Amino acid sequence: MEKQRIDKILSSQNIATRSETKQLIRKGQVIVNGTAVKRHEEKFDPDTDEIFVCGNKLRFRQYLYIMMNKPRGILSASRDKNAATVIDLLPPELRRDGLFPAGRLDKDSEGFILITDDGELAHKMLAPKSHVYKLYEAQCDRKLTQSDISAFASGIKCGEIQFMPAEMKITGDNTALVEICEGKFHQVRKMFASLNAEVLRLKRLRIGGVFLDENLREGESRELSENETNDILSRKHGI
Ligand code: URA
Repeated sequence: MEKQRIDKILSSQNIATRSETKQLIRKGQVIVNGTAVKRHEEKFDPDTDEIFVCGNKLRFRQYLYIMMNKPRGILSASRDKNAATVIDLLPPELRRDGLFPAGRLDKDSEGFILITDDGELAHKMLAPKSHVYKLYEAQCDRKLTQSDISAFASGIKCGEIQFMPAEMKITGDNTALVEICEGKFHQVRKMFASLNAEVLRLKRLRIGGVFLDENLREGESRELSENETNDILSRKHGI
């Protein structure tokens, strides 16, 4: 990676603002490769230089990839004047500038939402031609049948919108798993609505090859592991 100013490195990682970095440097609290940094303009390679701040080793991450278990009632947006957003729920250690939810879950939907500052990955994850499948669990207001499965498999038409064929599996009287790789507005709700079923509850369980961590309680989040980050764009599918 290209060398960057130490104050820029620390602010990008949400460790210290640029003026805080100056103070830390004055106090001798910023050590790179064993030597105290003297000027905030000094440049280092955050991938290869060993940086310590106040005795703690910096784990540099160019991008963050965060899995959140979004609760109902929270907006999938970066900020909103009136309502709480997924970004508002992030714990302080996972906050930094530039984070946004990659794709949307409706306000009333819940489950796996990816929060990142990697625009390229988000774009790939969302483009239907990337074939990154998302798995949802839906609870409907009526019993689901084989003819619903067939309708999903043939590609549901809803007004002017033609949805791609999708796999649906009934898991209980009124519940089903649905897998799609498009992300049209209210897509799963609209697909069921066109079959006269109202979705009462909708939860996203998987994106690409990564399942929602069952240990995350509603509103909680954690970073993806390296393997998970690689698997998020997996085209793996099938219920
Ligand atoms: N489909 C929907 O209808 N809503 C969501 O939140 C996600 C997929």
